[in-house]
Amino acid sequence: MFNKKVAALLNEQINKEFYSSYLYLDMNNYFEGRGLDGFANWYRIQAMEERDHAMLFYQYMQNNDLKVTLEAIAKPDKVFKVDMDVLKAGLAHEEYVTASINDIYAEAYKAKDFRTMQFLDWFIKEQGEEETNARDLITKMELFGNDPKGLYMLNQELKARVYNAPSLVLD
Ligand code: FEO
Repeated sequence: MFNKKVAALLNEQINKEFYSSYLYLDMNNYFEGRGLDGFANWYRIQAMEERDHAMLFYQYMQNNDLKVTLEAIAKPDKVFKVDMDVLKAGLAHEEYVTASINDIYAEAYKAKDFRTMQFLDWFIKEQGEEETNARDLITKMELFGNDPKGLYMLNQELKARVYNAPSLVLD
């Protein structure tokens, strides 16, 4: 028998990951409006990765014969006045998601649900990488973002980001 609390948290995480995708799409939209196509590209790919995360939770639940309930995805409600607002909101959101994954892990640990713990290991590592990426972006923006040439170079760098399917593949 699958632990009910763990199952409920996994289900909630599907929504949180889809919301993440929606939030990053909103950030992509902001940077499209600014004419910064590299930043826009970076957030568009981030949105695609979040959709992949949602689908991994979705598939994991189905693979374990758990009933998925799809809930409404909230409207992205952040107001971005300057570019740095977006970057900081991105980091804050990743920290929130990390805490959420940790909560599921803690429940799975309590329930001796080793299968879910193993599944979540990939996300624990992924969250570490995502927080690092978000922090690095803030640092680079602080260093170079106030100078038009620096911002141009940073935009060019972010244009190079390409989409990669997640390394975690569920059978
Ligand atoms: Fe799927 Fe960025 O957390």
